[in-house]
Amino acid sequence: MYIGVDYYPEHWPSNRWTTDADLMAEAGFNIARLAEFAWVDMEPVEGEFEFGWLDEALSILGKRNISAILGTPTAVMPAWMAHQYPETLAMQKDGTRIVWGVRKNNCFTSSVYRKRSERITLAMAEHFAQTPNVIGWQTDNEFGQPYCYCDECRGGFQTWLQRKYGSLDELNRAWGNHFWGQKVQGWDEIVIPVDDSTYNPSACLDWRRFFSWLNVSFQRDQVNILRKICPTHFITHNFMGLFKGLNYYELATDLDFVSWDNYPKLGVTPQIRYDASLSADVMRGLKGKNFWIMEQTAGAPGWATFGRNPRPGEIRSIAYQQLAHGADGNLWFRWRTCTAGREQYWHGLLGHDGRPLRRYDEAAQVAHEYHRLAPELEGTTIKADVAIIYDYESLWALDIQPGYSNPEGNNVGQDAIKRYYQALFRAGVNVDMVPPSADLTPYKLVLAPHLYILSDTIAEHLNAYVRAGGVLLTDCRTAVKDETSLCYDRTLPGKLSEMLGISIEEYEAVIGEYPLTMSGDLGPFTATHYADWVHTTGADVLASYASWHLADYAAVTRHRFGKGWGWYVGTVVKETKFYDWLAAGLLNQASISPIVTPPAGVEVSLRERQDQKLLFLLNHTEQPQDMVIPEGCYDLLKDIMCGDRLHLDRYGVAILKVG
Ligand code: GAL
Ligand code: ZN
Repeated sequence: MYIGVDYYPEHWPSNRWTTDADLMAEAGFNIARLAEFAWVDMEPVEGEFEFGWLDEALSILGKRNISAILGTPTAVMPAWMAHQYPETLAMQKDGTRIVWGVRKNNCFTSSVYRKRSERITLAMAEHFAQTPNVIGWQTDNEFGQPYCYCDECRGGFQTWLQRKYGSLDELNRAWGNHFWGQKVQGWDEIVIPVDDSTYNPSACLDWRRFFSWLNVSFQRDQVNILRKICPTHFITHNFMGLFKGLNYYELATDLDFVSWDNYPKLGVTPQIRYDASLSADVMRGLKGKNFWIMEQTAGAPGWATFGRNPRPGEIRSIAYQQLAHGADGNLWFRWRTCTAGREQYWHGLLGHDGRPLRRYDEAAQVAHEYHRLAPELEGTTIKADVAIIYDYESLWALDIQPGYSNPEGNNVGQDAIKRYYQALFRAGVNVDMVPPSADLTPYKLVLAPHLYILSDTIAEHLNAYVRAGGVLLTDCRTAVKDETSLCYDRTLPGKLSEMLGISIEEYEAVIGEYPLTMSGDLGPFTATHYADWVHTTGADVLASYASWHLADYAAVTRHRFGKGWGWYVGTVVKETKFYDWLAAGLLNQASISPIVTPPAGVEVSLRERQDQKLLFLLNHTEQPQDMVIPEGCYDLLKDIMCGDRLHLDRYGVAILKVG
């Protein structure tokens, strides 16, 4: 179990380094990430390397059994680079280049930049290959920005399109270039679409695919060098949870495991950290395996203004939430709050004064607990019965054309996923977030919300899942478009119609609200944002619209197909309780029963291996919580046998060895 901090020795006088390392060791830390922004410190003059300072810092850490992850430093180019090679700075839409001085400001196509990225990676790899406590690498830092509109990128985009489509006829067809006379007759006529809301949606989608591929290929250059020179080291990258600017499945392909940076919003009152939980599941889904937290919340965050301080117990509970979802490593960002630069107020475990106080003590407590738990956790992961399909291409296409408006301005697809995910969270079941092509046979229940881009192959994959006995829920805006973002010339939901037993004759963005009618004493529930006018062709109606003009149409349906069931929700329901009702119905239909029914505000997650089931319970509220648990559990943190009840303090955590 690796637990430690992100450490910047170059920010402090070297006579402080031993104090830092002693404090880390006392806290039980055994890992530090270093150097991801230190390019100019390692290559002060182009082609001349200086690693002495880092050798010294690493050796001080090594003497205290602290291992190290080194970052390739390419997220910040040295001033000399920008000065000597201005073409390495990304070009903005207006044709000017980014002004050097922040970070993430390079063009990823620039051959000048890429050669220099490879050179510093090679120099670091060769220099640190034999350093005993260096165990792994982080590529760059938080890939995802910026778009660059320079001629080299435009040329790269054209070449990428040529490879993808082969002929201009095919490109013109795939993009629907007959519209507005957009037919191109030479590859070099193609431009970068500069605005999602006015340019051709198919072109916009391919630009995102290209940019994602570009980042992956930039990373691959570094990975190839590191694999060759440091074959025993692992390689990872720090992802950003729900960030969707890149196809994270593809970015993860070349890596040994995924790690990510977890900065949950710390609200006015304690709130359930749904997004941190969903992010963890998305991160675990990228490679279908456990992940690390490369940057964990250590204090109040902020660049200009800062947020609130994590309350007593909150640093610990933020870390445990990730452990519960499959984190096998945890590094707090950052060790000590820096006294200089833009992140002076992004607080670390230590304050500006460098004293080990409350936040340090809490992290040390977690570290000691993690080491004690390590043998129990070894080889455990999440084995969910439920999967939600998480597809970057659909999310991108929905960014480009959401269809209906979302007051919060969020991605409508991500918001749909959150509604279902949060209800399943409240019900106390684990969820795997998987790509559309994932093998669905391990799951009893699959949700495919807003699967806007749906190829015929994936549609058949979903139908086959239901035919064979699976329970599938899908909802509005699914199956609207093909892979190049052309609308299908079919009645919705296209290839899913037979499986769902419905046909959507018309649809609309809802202005205002439509009350829903349900059987029994459920509700009142209200349709908002969007409504499919669903005509049933065999499905049962679970909810319909009360409005006169929709009297003939269904809002929520369920259909027996083959050995399974296809559920459909054609609207966005205002009340959270609707989703709780829906989740209960789906879980019941799929014969999934949660191990415990958590009280409101308590999160449940199960990590397991063949001979072991570890039930995590986390209290996200500031009131103590009491709950019923299965008998015969062993409380690993308290080291006691439990009865049939569990008490959790505010922000309290329990890990129960079940049965
Ligand atoms: C992360 C980034 C860190 C640091 C932190 C706080 O996104 O990787 O380098 O900047 O945010 O702003
Ligand atoms: Zn460029």
